Amino acid sequence: MRIVLVGPPGAGKGTQAQFIATHLSIPKISTGDIFRANVSGGTELGLLAKQYMDKGDLVPDEVTIAMVRDRLAEEDARKGFLLDGFPRTVPQAETLKEMLAEWGDKLDLVLELIVDEDEVVRRLSGRRTCAQCGRVSHVVFESGGSGKTVDVCGYCGGQLFQRDDDKEETVRHRLEVYTEQTAPLVSFYANEGILVGIDATGPVEEITERAMAELRPFTK
Ligand code: AP5
Repeated sequence: MRIVLVGPPGAGKGTQAQFIATHLSIPKISTGDIFRANVSGGTELGLLAKQYMDKGDLVPDEVTIAMVRDRLAEEDARKGFLLDGFPRTVPQAETLKEMLAEWGDKLDLVLELIVDEDEVVRRLSGRRTCAQCGRVSHVVFESGGSGKTVDVCGYCGGQLFQRDDDKEETVRHRLEVYTEQTAPLVSFYANEGILVGIDATGPVEEITERAMAELRPFTK
């Protein structure tokens, strides 16, 4: 299966991608994660990407597309993949379509995660990432109802940190960038006849179940 997840920052793409990819035994490919790994590693790509990411802007298309082309050409992605955070502009979507066609492939489904802006801001202000295993969690939602914030990962006990681009003013700019540059993908993929929107509010497991209900027909 070849799937794309689209939705605003904080819609839960990364959270859902890890569960869906595990259910379907396909690799989850997150451009945000690849850029962040390059930033941490101090690579040339990371240094370039950081200039854009810190401001909440998109990394230029040619850089992002070249990186994704290399990743999709790897053996584990040849039989299917789940893309999280790519494409993010219409030119990226057009190039992805051409790239897959060159390999005799095409996308099966684009899942749009629908949430409103207030929920996005609530989610991103509390988002934390584990420095050890990379899992994403939320300092308040995952307190087990105690209301206390948590600072260690519930999966592996690693230290949690806040992403640099989750500061309030950067989040607001990322939302503007989404509306201007990424939201047009919704009509792009609707025209292609492969877009399905799901309500991405409520418990994480229920959203995974809604997504799997849309994806199951393709797994037979
Ligand atoms: P990227 O990492 O892709 O960021 P994003 O799209 O802004 O998405 P987020 O990671 O912020 O949110 P998410 O939807 O994954 O939500 P999450 O699951 O974490 O990109 C970062 C940057 O890299 C970009 O700004 C750009 O600079 C660059 N970049 C990346 N791809 C690019 C591309 N293609 N082209 C150009 N530049 C690119 O959830 C958020 C929080 O909510 C978490 O705390 C989570 O625990 C919580 N949560 C999740 N689900 C629920 C729920 N159901 N109920 C309550 N809380 C929930």
